[in-house]
Amino acid sequence: MGAVSPTMPTVAITGSASGIGAACAERLGANGYEVIGIDRHGATVVADLGTPAGRQSAIGEVEDRCGGVLDAVVTCAGLAGAPSRAGSLLVSVNYFGTVVLMEGFRPLLARSPSPSAVAVSSNSTTIQPGVDRRITNACLDGDEDGAARLADDAGSMGTYPATKLAVAHWVRRHATGGEWAGSGIRLNAVAPGMVDTPLVAEGRADPKVAPLLEMLPIPIGRAGRPEEIAALIELLIGPDGGFFCGSVLFIDGGSDALLRTADWPAPWDIDLGRAAERLAGD
Ligand code: NAI
Repeated sequence: MGAVSPTMPTVAITGSASGIGAACAERLGANGYEVIGIDRHGATVVADLGTPAGRQSAIGEVEDRCGGVLDAVVTCAGLAGAPSRAGSLLVSVNYFGTVVLMEGFRPLLARSPSPSAVAVSSNSTTIQPGVDRRITNACLDGDEDGAARLADDAGSMGTYPATKLAVAHWVRRHATGGEWAGSGIRLNAVAPGMVDTPLVAEGRADPKVAPLLEMLPIPIGRAGRPEEIAALIELLIGPDGGFFCGSVLFIDGGSDALLRTADWPAPWDIDLGRAAERLAGD
């Protein structure tokens, strides 16, 4: 396949072979986007985003295919926690497989007249108790080896929300800065609750994970559909989403609202002098 058409907006989607990423690829493809899918298999760009070499080859191949300009990026590639899966794999795929691609694609986005990016986080960030912040912090420090060591000790079930919290905080940390908002690139995150995809089917088939999934209260009474997440992502990357910047949008059938009712929005407990410094950009 050669370079994509310059007349259609081009979107790169990681995890495009399955679940939410596949729903995004289908919806955006049907609605006029040129889609460059990235996945371990069944995608235009085949790469293992859990490795530095795989991430770099994905970035290089997408750059060649899009002719150096991307209009949107959606990062869906991810793995759930599972009793037999190493925590370090989630650090490598869920966090570094997201942010290294975001950083690698940023110069391509900067050449678009109306660029935007969406990362997929998770409502496990707020509703799974006991998130290990040391893993989150090591991710945000860019310390993949350190985060991987902590994650292998914690196991992948506990590591999952820590990696997704790191993704959400990375988005909020960078979205408002010079390289993103300051360069006209809107960066946001979505935080889905339980969505019926192969990732959840894997959990339902595991005798240790299935009872935990059963415990999750979903006020609307059902799991989400990948198409519902794709619809929100299309809004966020398109012209109607032009005022979203640094948002982390929960789309979870009410689980977060039920379990963390009064925790958000969180009022700003800061003295007025420090608030003024923050607003002045200290
Ligand atoms: P899925 O398992 O259907 O799709 C994930 C895709 O990521 C797969 O196509 C897989 O091949 C790809 N992937 C995994 N490891 C990779 C690697 N090393 N390199 C390249 N691609 C890789 O999962 P689903 O449910 O669509 O999840 C998409 C995103 O949404 C994930 O980041 C997940 O953590 C997140 N999420 C999912 C929820 C759910 O309930 N399904 C809830 C909250 C967040």
